[in-house]
Amino acid sequence: MRHEIIKENDLIFLILDERRRWLVQVKSGEKFHTHRGIIEFNDIIGKNFGSVVFSRPFETQGYKFYVLRPIPSDYILHMSRKTQIIYPEDAGLILTYSGIGPGSRVIEAGCGSGALTCIIGNFIRPNGHVFSFDISQKSLKRAKLNIKKAQLEEVVTIQYGDILNDDLQQENVDAVVLDMATPWNAVEKVKKYLKFSGTLISFSPTIEQVKKTVSAMKTGDFIEINTYELIKRKIQVKENATRPEIRMVGHTGYLTFARKIKDIKNPYREQKPKIQEKINMNGMPLRD
Ligand SMILES: C[S@@+](CC[C@H](N)C(=O)[O-])C[C@H]1O[C@@H](n2cnc3c(N)ncnc32)[C@H](O)[C@@H]1O
Repeated sequence: MRHEIIKENDLIFLILDERRRWLVQVKSGEKFHTHRGIIEFNDIIGKNFGSVVFSRPFETQGYKFYVLRPIPSDYILHMSRKTQIIYPEDAGLILTYSGIGPGSRVIEAGCGSGALTCIIGNFIRPNGHVFSFDISQKSLKRAKLNIKKAQLEEVVTIQYGDILNDDLQQENVDAVVLDMATPWNAVEKVKKYLKFSGTLISFSPTIEQVKKTVSAMKTGDFIEINTYELIKRKIQVKENATRPEIRMVGHTGYLTFARKIKDIKNPYREQKPKIQEKINMNGMPLRD
């Protein structure tokens, strides 16, 4: 059972209004400065998650702030980031279409800012592990900080590793997640880490990347190769004005999933040669 009373070092999601909200760690005796006054952590320690706190000085500020327990989408959208991150809706699809769950062992490359790492780390707890690799020292540093902030260090290892050239020293992992510029070059390399029936997931912002990645997966070692795009619309609910919000994120990326198999030729039925669809990198799909 998770504790309900806020204590020293807890992460809280502090909300002033729709736009002003922060992910902060509670430190007794310390203060959090906002342009709507000062929040003293001592005013929060000992309260329940879901309470309110007022900014000091009460006489001149006295704004109401809500204190929630952060959920994965709060970590993602409010963490320190420099690289493009995976959005919560895409992370949700990754979890449900990959079979990643408590106890799973997952390889991820690259870790970027660690947004997806946080989501997966949160789900594989308490016995699973995420092995997250990147080749950029800046990304590694930022992801480590974000993982520490999310208090996931026990189930996540962030380390230097080039998924295209290094031996990542893992085997039989449940899933491999690729979010990097050239995932198609990694497909063959990561196959050896993945257990049979395990899932390979690739996130790419462009169709050109997807075509190359799917083509690399169509070698006979993967089945159930499917690509999706999710469009999330937030709905504004107001008296006589309920409709989708006018501004939205129009595109995040495409998600491709594939399951690793150990295929053998059917000894009982003669098989007609399959018409294999090949992908012409420069244009439309080709037929043999
Ligand atoms: C878009 S970011 C990943 C964002 C991450 N999924 C998140 O949610 O924060 C892509 C990362 O892939 C890393 N990368 C590129 N090539 C790589 C490789 N060969 N091996 C490991 N990481 C790589 C980059 O350095 C970059 O940090």
